[in-house]
Amino acid sequence: MQKQRLEGKVALITGAASGIGEESARLFAKNGALVVAVDVQDELGEKVAASIGSNKVTYHHCDVRDEKQVEETMKFTLEKHGHIDILFSNAGILGSLSSIFDLDLNEFDNTMATNIRGAAAMIKHAARAMVEKKVQGSIICTTSVSASIGGTGPHGYTTSKHALLGLVRSACSELGAYGIRVNSISPYGVATPLACRAFNLEPHEVEANSCAEANLKGVVLKAKHIAEAALFLASDEAIYISGHNLVVDGGFTVVNRSTNCFAPVYT
Ligand SMILES: NC(=O)c1ccc[n+]([C@@H]2O[C@H](COP(=O)([O-])OP(=O)(O)OC[C@H]3O[C@@H](n4cnc5c(N)ncnc54)[C@H](O)[C@@H]3O)[C@@H](O)[C@H]2O)c1
Repeated sequence: MQKQRLEGKVALITGAASGIGEESARLFAKNGALVVAVDVQDELGEKVAASIGSNKVTYHHCDVRDEKQVEETMKFTLEKHGHIDILFSNAGILGSLSSIFDLDLNEFDNTMATNIRGAAAMIKHAARAMVEKKVQGSIICTTSVSASIGGTGPHGYTTSKHALLGLVRSACSELGAYGIRVNSISPYGVATPLACRAFNLEPHEVEANSCAEANLKGVVLKAKHIAEAALFLASDEAIYISGHNLVVDGGFTVVNRSTNCFAPVYT
């Protein structure tokens, strides 16, 4: 029988009760990983874990904004599984779309606390655990197309995702010495609760918008495509990949739609 891609590996996934994190928990477990699924939506998180199987996935409450909870979650993971190989720091919020003239700084702070400070706390404690247990692990963060360009989300969101990309590169610069890889994934629009709620759209409307704006035609981006990118970066297939931002956007951020001289003209 062929070896599974994450056989024997222990993975901690944040934001695992929903969307991209949930898909990743399912795919990682299917590929042989023991998963600690972390979120603040306890009922949903427990349900996701139970539907995958309690021998493969354990749900654990953790608000990534609170370093004490992050530290406790890492302790829980080490006590349960002995070590950690993979951190998929994926939890995030979008915030509401508002003009810079009316920027709500409390909401801005909350976005930064979740998307960047939360990821920093997760990386700090996962890196400590990996070094302590002499594990050459893989750390992956979910950034966004909003990590590279403006105008694709709220101001706080774009700021936090640009900062997160910086954190990934900075952590990579130090953790390479320990054999720990640090990468990110930048998805384009996926019809998860985050995107649907923020824009007050149904999933099929989010997908229709993404398809209309996308450069690559004929594919509808789904959470499972992002999970597959995370699986690749988590696995030994990406053994020499570190500091990379794997953009899963069908070319959206590298083609200027308004000046594309190769854009087909539909009649
Ligand atoms: N959906 C998209 O279009 C899209 C595009 C680019 C990037 N992303 C990023 O993907 C990641 C996952 O989002 P998603 O689209 O799957 O949305 P989602 O809302 O389905 O999932 C996000 C999860 O994060 C959890 N979460 C939020 N705050 C938390 C906290 N403080 N502590 C712990 N968990 C917390 C939520 O409860 C939720 O379960 C986010 O970082 C998001 O910014 C999403």
